[in-house]
Amino acid sequence: MTPKQIDLVQDSFAKVAPIADAAATLFYGRLFETTPEVRLLFKGDMQEQGRKLMATLGAVVNGLKNLDAILPAAKSLAVRHVAYGVKPGHYRPVGEALIFTLEKGLGDEFTPETREAWIAAYGLLSGAMIAEAYGMAAA
Ligand code: HEM
Repeated sequence: MTPKQIDLVQDSFAKVAPIADAAATLFYGRLFETTPEVRLLFKGDMQEQGRKLMATLGAVVNGLKNLDAILPAAKSLAVRHVAYGVKPGHYRPVGEALIFTLEKGLGDEFTPETREAWIAAYGLLSGAMIAEAYGMAAA
């Protein structure tokens, strides 16, 4: 990612952070619409789950300028996801639901450049998570 892309991701995330609960609702609504089979993997309260997701995303976004600091936590998160029943192929629909959520949440402020920056950020994160949890070949 370029420094400019990191700024775009950080600035746009700051704008969805105040509407985190609504964003999480949009996100899971979209995910369960496109990929209904993952619904059964979620056992807990979805509002609580949404808060955890947004908090973790926030930590990753804030750490983009210092990847060495965030990747170890992202990798152990990925390994826990194997036990939740998550498969490598689930990362793509999750990424798409994330982009959808940002688009709905930010409206015109979600410019094509910002979209590209988020695709780069999610690609980096999901690639590292998949490689760690399922091996390099899957990523
Ligand atoms: C790529 C970034 C992702 C982030 C930042 C993320 C974040 C989180 C967090 C913070 C938790 C709470 C539990 C823990 O910390 O171990 C969690 C649980 C979970 N995540 Fe993710 N996740 C990601 C990707 C995915 C994907 C691709 C799926 C596939 C559907 C998924 C499905 C789940 C499930 C099923 C749980 C457990 C829910 C439960 O116990 O009811 N996550 N995730």
